[in-house]
Amino acid sequence: MSSSNRFMHIPNHSNSDKEQRSKSLTKRQYVRFAFYRIDPVWRRLSGDEQAEQKCELLDTIQTFNRRMLLRPYSLMGTRADAELLLWLIAESPVVFQELAVAIMRTRMGAYLQMAYSYFSQTKRSIYEIRSSNNGHEERLVVQPSDARYLFVYPFIKTRDWYQMSRAARQGMMDEHIEVGRRYPAVKLNTTYCFGLDDYEFIVAFETDEPSDFLDLVQDLRETEASRYTKQDTPLFSCINMRLAEALDALGGPAIAEPLDETERPRQELWTEACRLDEIPPGESRLVYHDGRQVALFNVDGRLYALSNRCSHARGPLSEGQVDTAECTVTCPWHYAKYDLVSGRVLDGVASAPVESFAVEVRDSMIFVGTKIAALVSE
Ligand code: FES
Repeated sequence: MSSSNRFMHIPNHSNSDKEQRSKSLTKRQYVRFAFYRIDPVWRRLSGDEQAEQKCELLDTIQTFNRRMLLRPYSLMGTRADAELLLWLIAESPVVFQELAVAIMRTRMGAYLQMAYSYFSQTKRSIYEIRSSNNGHEERLVVQPSDARYLFVYPFIKTRDWYQMSRAARQGMMDEHIEVGRRYPAVKLNTTYCFGLDDYEFIVAFETDEPSDFLDLVQDLRETEASRYTKQDTPLFSCINMRLAEALDALGGPAIAEPLDETERPRQELWTEACRLDEIPPGESRLVYHDGRQVALFNVDGRLYALSNRCSHARGPLSEGQVDTAECTVTCPWHYAKYDLVSGRVLDGVASAPVESFAVEVRDSMIFVGTKIAALVSE
């Protein structure tokens, strides 16, 4: 089954029709937090064997990069019972299963133990959450930031919470949200697991400053809604790093190439996105590149790639309406129009451009690349 979208023509419906339709267009995503720890026996293997096994595991995991968004984290030094987190986001849970099997088939997989696993899905909140995005609270697409730290925990509310009226709960959520707004540098990703896993929510907070998160959690304890928390542990403090670095943190000789931070933006970075025949002319699809979601468009044989997230309120541009004549895409949520080549806003409510990416076809395979700033002419 293809996950690409035919370019759509949106007929002249009323605004509320359009709003409903555009909301239904956006698919939920599946999310998995897979926490591993290594059998200490592995640390007694020879250095050569450890390095070889890490390289094999690294290559195996990286083959999944074009099918899901995969963020690695290390918990070495922060937690006793888990050492490595793979935060996975995809359109289907099947790819999680395939990755888990592939990992277990590697030599290092024989030493990796699954410490914790959480499986959840994105969903629009039932509560009114006014946000800086023009009041549009959007939780259907997870877009991790580049924050250094991630704090993850499963969450269950008491059954008494669900017996209260929606209005009463909304009042308490307003207070809760207000406290969260005091910490704008802490980004919350809430996903839902009612019926999918043992919990109700998995929450993941991203920040560059752990003390902000500590202060936020302490403040939240004083809110009314906190009385209705049944479980919010275990709590995992995770450090974002490249996958090779996260594997190196487990032990053995280093396999990660040293990274010169000053050189990083100049490095060429390409991702194998999909086969050319998977996106025929007139179609668009969501692909992944460098931990980001990218909307790929085939306009009469010409390929374009933009950040999938509309700069207004994160609408999914891969599901937008493409005008092949003027080479634009219109966001399906509030109709901001972007130039497919540059990502500039041409019309509508958005004020900031979206990132545009380089696209190349090599041997019938489409590659998406980060444009090097110095070479991009506006
Ligand atoms: S999300 Fe509002 S215009 Fe795209």
